[in-house]
Amino acid sequence: MEEKAGRRVVLVPVPAQGHINPMMQLGIALHLKGFSITVALTELNHLTSPWEDFPDFQFVTIMGGLSESEFKKLGPVEFLIKLNDMCESSFKDCLGQLLQQKQGNDIACVIYDEYMHFAEAAAKDFNFPSVIFSTTNATAFVCRFLLGRFKENWFLALLKGTSGFSVSDLHKSLNSCRAVSMVLFFIEPGEQDKLVPEFHPLRYKDLPTSAFAPLESSLKLYTNVVNKGTASAVIINTASCLESSSLSRLEQDLQAPVYPIGPLHKAASASCSLLEEDRSCIEWLNKQKPSSVIYISLGSLALMEHKEVVEMAWGLANSNQPFLWVIRPGSIPGSEWTESLPEEFGRIVSERGHIVKWAPQKEVLSHSAVGCFWSHCGWNSTLESIGEGVPLICRPFSGDQRVNARYLDRIWRVGIQLEGELERGDVEKALRRLMADEEGVVMKKRALCLKEGVEASVRHGGSSHNSLNEFVDFIKGL
Ligand code: UDX
Repeated sequence: MEEKAGRRVVLVPVPAQGHINPMMQLGIALHLKGFSITVALTELNHLTSPWEDFPDFQFVTIMGGLSESEFKKLGPVEFLIKLNDMCESSFKDCLGQLLQQKQGNDIACVIYDEYMHFAEAAAKDFNFPSVIFSTTNATAFVCRFLLGRFKENWFLALLKGTSGFSVSDLHKSLNSCRAVSMVLFFIEPGEQDKLVPEFHPLRYKDLPTSAFAPLESSLKLYTNVVNKGTASAVIINTASCLESSSLSRLEQDLQAPVYPIGPLHKAASASCSLLEEDRSCIEWLNKQKPSSVIYISLGSLALMEHKEVVEMAWGLANSNQPFLWVIRPGSIPGSEWTESLPEEFGRIVSERGHIVKWAPQKEVLSHSAVGCFWSHCGWNSTLESIGEGVPLICRPFSGDQRVNARYLDRIWRVGIQLEGELERGDVEKALRRLMADEEGVVMKKRALCLKEGVEASVRHGGSSHNSLNEFVDFIKGL
């Protein structure tokens, strides 16, 4: 542990696996720098007994949050909007209680997940500095920031044709505004496949809007994030070797210091799986040939259509490769687990497949038997795959995953994105390109180079390592 900074940082994560993981990794990284850590969890936090896994951290509960059933009913976007409305005053109570205790006197700052902006308003009341932590990448952050700058009412009026002016008026009056060109695709049909100006290689259809909610709700959430955001700085779980131009652009747009300190899982490991990991898959992997297995996982939230699952299953079966497939219970609507898979597929699985409900993913990706990762391209999965030099089949589902998939395919060139309606023949072809053809060999080499790059960035003297130190100096000086 480095010199004791002795001050306390309060962390406010979104209660979801893809956000809790990086926030807890950040907590460990800051604890290693000598900070005391308080984690403020909403009542719905999914972590059963976090104090056992993080004995050095203090945990407090933000009362009055929403329940699991409300999360299911509302979906993630509406849930976050409501959670922000409900939690500000209870979080103020939490900070007030901390102040009454010894620990509260020395709060250096409140670090909140970008989507938990209620924390900033509460921190302001106590004159605590606040810092945004973005658990997605810088490029998606820039896109959300620009989309969020639209005044929601004005934008909706435009969508409904009641604003009194047309798209071309808008073009004329706001020609220089990048955000305008971004939203035009919502209005003008046939724009989806075109490149967004100044955002190469993103197309309009790659912009990070949510599959879980109507467009209006995504924009409302982004607008709230932008409007409420007067944080002192932004930290982001990415490395400058992955997206240096988006990072510079972000710094320019935000006019606040931006600290890329990732990939955090390489700098600080934290075990905070919300579901029980089935370790039988490691024993199964131990019996497979090197680089032969296709690992399939779509993260903690994505849903699969029944028709798509059947095409995936037959594509996998016809590829003749062994595969390890994580199917979360409930992720195929209308099915409890795997009962909707074709019966004949079951026979193939018993020969060369293994299906689990949840896997120790980082361990799986670092296993020598794994040859490729079929992913929904959540940012954590993306970083974890890059961090192990594993090439990907990219099938994004929602939000930032589309940006990540496009970067994996077009910028870092370590993935093949499958687009449009999924067909077993296309699945089989893509798997062959990656697992058997020369193209796959070249892609694997690039993936190993990228792995070296991100590992170097978190090592002593690397860009993310330095950025974390600069951030520590920054908060010590607040
Ligand atoms: C969500 C968003 O969907 C994602 O796009 C955003 O970047 C973060 O929040 P999620 O969909 O769960 O996250 O995907 P991802 O970011 O990949 O995070 C999933 C995490 O769960 C990863 O850290 C992964 O290692 C872990 N995981 C996944 C397991 O531990 N076991 C599994 O079987 C599957």
